Amino acid sequence: MCGIVGYVGAKPALDVVVEGLARLEYRGYDSAGVAVLADGRLTTAKRAGKLVNLRNALEEEPPPAGTTGMGHTRWATHGPPNDRNAHPHTDCTGTVAVIHNGIIENFARLRAELEEAGHKLRSDTDTEAVAHLLEDELKRGGGLPDAMRRVCRRLEGAFTLVAVHTGDTDLVVGARRNSPLVVGLGKGENFLASDVAAFIAHTRDAIELGQDQVVELRPNGVVVTDFAGRPAEVKEYHVDWDVSAAEKGGYDYFMLKEIAEQPRAVADTLLGRIGTDGRLILDEMRMPDQELREVDKVIIVACGTANHAGLIAKYAIEHWAGLPCEVELAHEFRYRDPILNRSTLVIAISQSGETMDTLMAVRHAREQHAKVLGICNVNGSTLPRECDGVLYTHAGPEIAVASTKAFLTQLVAVYLIALYLAQVRGTKWGDEVFAMIQLLAQMPEKVDKVLETMEPVRELARSLAGERCVLFLGRHVGFPVALEGALKLKELAYMHAEGFAAGELKHGPIALIEEGLPVVVVVPPRARDVLHDKIVSNIQEIRARGARTIVIAEEGDTSVEPYADTLIAVPAVPTLLQPLVTTVPLQVFACELATAKGHDVDQPRNLAKSVTVE
Ligand code: G6P
Repeated sequence: MCGIVGYVGAKPALDVVVEGLARLEYRGYDSAGVAVLADGRLTTAKRAGKLVNLRNALEEEPPPAGTTGMGHTRWATHGPPNDRNAHPHTDCTGTVAVIHNGIIENFARLRAELEEAGHKLRSDTDTEAVAHLLEDELKRGGGLPDAMRRVCRRLEGAFTLVAVHTGDTDLVVGARRNSPLVVGLGKGENFLASDVAAFIAHTRDAIELGQDQVVELRPNGVVVTDFAGRPAEVKEYHVDWDVSAAEKGGYDYFMLKEIAEQPRAVADTLLGRIGTDGRLILDEMRMPDQELREVDKVIIVACGTANHAGLIAKYAIEHWAGLPCEVELAHEFRYRDPILNRSTLVIAISQSGETMDTLMAVRHAREQHAKVLGICNVNGSTLPRECDGVLYTHAGPEIAVASTKAFLTQLVAVYLIALYLAQVRGTKWGDEVFAMIQLLAQMPEKVDKVLETMEPVRELARSLAGERCVLFLGRHVGFPVALEGALKLKELAYMHAEGFAAGELKHGPIALIEEGLPVVVVVPPRARDVLHDKIVSNIQEIRARGARTIVIAEEGDTSVEPYADTLIAVPAVPTLLQPLVTTVPLQVFACELATAKGHDVDQPRNLAKSVTVE
């Protein structure tokens, strides 16, 4: 949450920073602000609302041109999203400016202390306290980096901070604890940001900052220390995508582009992981086969869409690897007493690798000596560093807040892990694993085929834009797909949408059915005859009570035709892989319906792409 950019170099800082903020707006869009150092003076500008409001204000009243600056796009935690609470925040002297992502938990105490000492705080934010603490520390000498280290030692909670000071105009200082911050390494210029997307147009060389580190950024140098001032070891890496991946490429919305990229994303996530002999090669996970043979239970932790990938993984892991598997919302997991030990494998799924609840669940699991494997899309993020092993998804940057291509690649990753567990543990015959891998390898084509047939789904979505509620039903792996379809519609169209296990229908949800209520039903393949027939009966039950049935079923499934007001056919694939094809129409449906309602599908209200606070 909240996007942060810092720049020091030779270019006009304002341009670099505003361009960076545009790429980070998916992180929060309640307000935006910038600070620029020019001619030894600090100028700030900030506006409530989306970045466009700030851009207009900057056009009307351009700040003096300088080559050091920083910017922020906010997802409000403390204080309403107005101009006053927008970042940057300054101290009493107007010489220090600070931007922040996270929550400073002891801010009330710090604020009271500062006010007692005579500081005048002007906003409701936790961040402003940091500007005033820096003011006091700067008076004690040592410059901004020292002041930042001393202040950080007093802060509790999660934070990424970036600050500038008129006392040193070629310097930007950053600090991080539990919130993301990466350094971009340029020639004669350097960058700081919550995500490499902010500076990818300038450099693809980056440094991941570790926990409790402070970075001093100058045009020709980067120094990283811990909060005590001891030099820290840093890890450089090269970003494997370029600026075009972070642009809309002709689409009206990132979400449309990301939906369309799914066949490629699925193919990339499979790439290099299937050996010439058809066996899986997942050495990159850095989890020895012997350890995987000793696993006796799997627990999956994740939030949001990633949690739905986890729910589907459970079916695959139990079926192929013969291991008991639990799936937990990461925020629930660590506040109970989960039973873990050395033979428990915890799999943490997170697109961003920065979801605070998932990271905390990982720490909790490791404290209990469980092995932790991460599934993550963002190289250089926190999750891979905190896990024993990691399997990257190769979705490329996902910018739209509602997850689409990341979800499909998470599914591919969990299928790979489940099949790999089956391979090393011998729970399936080699030829069975081999056959399933071959079918998995065909999935990019199948997803592509689904995308080619989406026009009727878009039409349907437009026709339902006036509805207030849509229900989703599924069973087996179709149940998490129903949950995901409902989540997409809530996120984007702000409609009441619920996903139910079809078997639960008669235990309550059927009471919601009334004349004309749209109900989307995900039908399992005909090969699963018992499941299939049961859900066909469910469709008849709801239709008899007036529901408008929208049925997603495999091509050639004529048994559902008489009961479907709308039939969406998807390619026939094995049951466990079916979510890869049944989810796509639901993404398209939600995206089109929300667009028809006039919503910005890339930046839905109140949401942020990665939830980096609890
Ligand atoms: C937020 C996003 C969701 C995402 C969830 C988990 O709620 O809006 O789209 O699924 O976070 O994010 P992660 O980065 O951990 O996968």
